[in-house]
Amino acid sequence: MTLILRKNGHMKEAEAVPYARVNYIYKKERIKVMGERVRFECGTASEYISADELMGIREQVLSARETLVSGSGLGNDFLGWINLPVDYDKEEFARIKKAAARIREDSEVFIAIGIGGSYLGAQAANTFLKGVFYNNQPKEVRKGPEVYFCGNSISSTYLQELLDLVGDRDFSINVISKSGTTTEPAIAFRVFKEKLIAKYGREEAAKRIYATTDKARGALKTLADAEGYEEFVVPDNVGGRFSVLTAVGLLPIAVTGADIDELMEGAAQMREIALSAAFEDNDPLLYAAARNILLRKGKEVEILGNYEPRLHYIGEWWKQLQGESEGKDKKGIFPAAVDLTTDLHSMGQYIQDGRRFLMETIMNVESQTYEIVMKKEASDLDGLNYLDGKTMDFANKCAMNGTLLAHSDGDVPNLRINIPRMDERSLGQLFYFFEFECGVSGYMLGVNPFNQPGVESYKKNMFALLGKPGYEAQHDELMKRL
Ligand code: PA5
Repeated sequence: MTLILRKNGHMKEAEAVPYARVNYIYKKERIKVMGERVRFECGTASEYISADELMGIREQVLSARETLVSGSGLGNDFLGWINLPVDYDKEEFARIKKAAARIREDSEVFIAIGIGGSYLGAQAANTFLKGVFYNNQPKEVRKGPEVYFCGNSISSTYLQELLDLVGDRDFSINVISKSGTTTEPAIAFRVFKEKLIAKYGREEAAKRIYATTDKARGALKTLADAEGYEEFVVPDNVGGRFSVLTAVGLLPIAVTGADIDELMEGAAQMREIALSAAFEDNDPLLYAAARNILLRKGKEVEILGNYEPRLHYIGEWWKQLQGESEGKDKKGIFPAAVDLTTDLHSMGQYIQDGRRFLMETIMNVESQTYEIVMKKEASDLDGLNYLDGKTMDFANKCAMNGTLLAHSDGDVPNLRINIPRMDERSLGQLFYFFEFECGVSGYMLGVNPFNQPGVESYKKNMFALLGKPGYEAQHDELMKRL
């Protein structure tokens, strides 16, 4: 028996209908009903996923969503992100905008210090919204400070080069750490704080330091209180990798002049779909279903691909989100990311022809920010005249479609996420789309999607090797093994 979905969410028996057809029917209706927005499609993976399989997993997906939204699952102390787009601290939101305006006024450079969830979302947003060359644009075009991230490594070379880049220019710092005790950002903050104090004196420096941390606990909170920094809060019930729509992400994003109201609005739209839409109209749920079906068929690695350099850090943010949320108890899809067509000339061979444990999810930006039209040349020495009058984006989409068909033929199913354009609204939708899918998928796998016990192992060893008080015994043990 083959089942197909009806618009009202009920199933009916039908002749064998490939899922591609079902998806096509619903896609057309969904476009009419929902309008322009971030949208998931099974794409060429529909050749690997039958309508029956999709219907077969439907109840598991809906049950995982119920576990998530009812707060009855593992890690339910960290579900604050679900309602963030509609239920956030409005007073703090206004303060974030004011601080951003002040920084745009008084700083040529803005240094955001954080690691993991305390920087990836903002880095992803800034590159997506403002472009790869934002920091290199003339001031008159940029209208805001250059924005740099540090505290996400312990490289003295990186930090010294950044100190040199700031030079004598006016700058401000946003130190971001939910725990307030993470070593990497703490080290970078010490170094940049010293530079700030040397330039402005202690009192003036304190006015240029913005601290985003826990409302009550941690070394950073203690320091911020003592020194009188302006403080922003990472809510208790929002974990690092789900915190981009809190002050963690919002201040470094707003500093570039991005519209954070639109960002929240976009996230609120996707939240509505995630919470209310029927399975066949529910993009995050369909994505969770598809990738889990493929996992069960041996596709253990998911590659998130983009055809836009502005999306590079979306891939980095997503790797943390999925990797830390699903990768535990010896389970989880391994998240990888590629930039295309760039990586077709490096990873393309493996994807096409290496071990067959891959699935791919392609982020497709539908409308360009800028368009370039190809022109005819008198002599056609490079043989490109056949592209006369065509846009570069047409060429990019041909590369994308050609590649996803080739990869499918090579047994790599391709899922697809369509993104209307590189603006705040689409980005808010995209962030929430991934977060919601991640929570659902984690519960489908039977793990706690909201903890990260594995991250502690390296920290304990590092503290022991650093000679941190309290780790003396481990120090000797580890030294014997090195
Ligand atoms: O998702 C997480 O919780 C982590 O990746 C954290 O964001 C990361 O470890 C940084 O932690 P903190 O903000 O406490 O410095």
